[in-house]
Amino acid sequence: MLTMLSPWTALMLVLMVGAWAAWTTVYLIRSIRGKEKWATMARTTDWLPPGPRGLPILGSLLNLGDLPHRTLHKLAMEYGPIMHMQLGQVQNIIVSSPQAAQLFLKTHDLIFASRPVTEVSQYIYNRKAVTFSQYGAYWRNLRKLYTIELLSSLKIESFKPMRREEVGLLVQSLKDTAKAGIAADLTAKVAALSTDMTCRMLLGKKYINESFDEGVFKGVVEEFMHLLGVFNISDYVPYTRVLDLQGLGRRMKEVHKVFDRFFEKIIDEHVQERDARQPDFVNFMLSFMESNDCEFHFDRTNIKAILMEILVAALDTTSITIEWALSELLRNPRVLKKAHLELENIIGLDREVEESDLANLEYLNMVVKEAMRLHPAAPLLIPHEAMEDCTVDRFHIPKKSHIIINAWAIGRDPNSWSNPEEFYPERFIGTHIDVRGQDFQLLPFGSGRRGCPGLQLGLTAVQFVLAQLVHCFDWELPNGMSPTDLDMTEKCGIVTARINHLWAIPAYRLKH
Ligand code: HEM
Repeated sequence: MLTMLSPWTALMLVLMVGAWAAWTTVYLIRSIRGKEKWATMARTTDWLPPGPRGLPILGSLLNLGDLPHRTLHKLAMEYGPIMHMQLGQVQNIIVSSPQAAQLFLKTHDLIFASRPVTEVSQYIYNRKAVTFSQYGAYWRNLRKLYTIELLSSLKIESFKPMRREEVGLLVQSLKDTAKAGIAADLTAKVAALSTDMTCRMLLGKKYINESFDEGVFKGVVEEFMHLLGVFNISDYVPYTRVLDLQGLGRRMKEVHKVFDRFFEKIIDEHVQERDARQPDFVNFMLSFMESNDCEFHFDRTNIKAILMEILVAALDTTSITIEWALSELLRNPRVLKKAHLELENIIGLDREVEESDLANLEYLNMVVKEAMRLHPAAPLLIPHEAMEDCTVDRFHIPKKSHIIINAWAIGRDPNSWSNPEEFYPERFIGTHIDVRGQDFQLLPFGSGRRGCPGLQLGLTAVQFVLAQLVHCFDWELPNGMSPTDLDMTEKCGIVTARINHLWAIPAYRLKH
């Protein structure tokens, strides 16, 4: 029959039948030998890591569910700690154990130190912020600027009086709530505190209810955080971008415009009132822009990108971590009591906590670690991108793959943590396990080149606010709710918050 066809048609037919036969053979082997055997084969043959097969074109995009960190955790239990998943046209490698995380973030850190281009990252001033910029000289220089000039221990220390004042205002307002004997919306209060502290440090004053154009500050930040966290189909199936199927492109443009006008106004204010203002991040960046010290091009756009990035990076991560820690304390009265006792013994009931006390609060610091283990603010960190083909643990990792580190699953790894679902701060007694990126079983700030440069600032804020709220108040759930009934459901985004606000009734504990 082949001889009756033209040579080209015959060749095409042979190729198609060949491709079909190869695909069917692979399919049959997978079905017959089972996933475990498939994984073993892949190990010995330098193939892609095992993983679920998805639909044509979309891959497994529709299987991620509302809480992708949980879906990926379940899949990893089936396919292993290094898993391959096709999402649209993008190859993703999902990393779900401490050992695997160490391979990607330490052994081969350099290869995976870039970030993928996403639609939303292009709206952050065309990737001029650290978080979304590709690995290279620009990222290195900007990160150096962050670590040396903006987030150094000296700079963090210089904002200590401001943090004390803002936390003092929150304590005062909760004292009023305690007198009235009513419940406080802790989610809203802690979020407002985090916004005020970040705005004062970054912009020199508070902007929480400041109207600017279409919305209030907080609303616009919330919308932006949402857009950052959404799985955007056009990032995975790029030719759908023009169709803007989810309407995200339009919303990103709008948010970007509002932010841009706001940042322009802030920079203008700083230029005009330069001598009369307390120095803040914007002042520093303006001086840096005008000096000729920059090793790279640095102008107003860079300042705006940094402002947008730090607002996004600092606001929610800090407040969400405090909120989860408070939720766990309310669910575990035994732990709350033990934290109270430590604070009474070390500080006493006649004064508030100072930042200088934090190093002595061993149990409270274990509570913070335990909260970060079970509720890492960014459960999937931020995707990394492979800069070249690489072999990891005998698996082939193709160039341009997105590397997703499931810190949420790693915090529950049964080989590293006994009774992983239990909130048990005592598990850290006698260990040196810390959150700073050296211990791969606990990665709330990531690790390696792309690890969080704001770690010290974020950790100080979390520890200080939590210590003060626990020291100054006893806490009870409203409406006679029992601790075990407290809803801990999550809502997903780039950061994972509680779906419902946390409410609790404070009772003031100190003597004055
Ligand atoms: C409790 C508070 C915080 C938590 C839990 C947190 C967590 C994280 C995580 C998980 C990453 C991604 C790491 C990776 O992809 O491997 C990250 C990156 C980053 N964080 Fe934080 N963060 C916090 C506070 C802050 C603060 C206060 C700032 C700045 C003022 C900040 C600035 C950044 C930046 C710029 C990056 C991107 C680094 C890069 O791509 O090179 N973070 N953070």
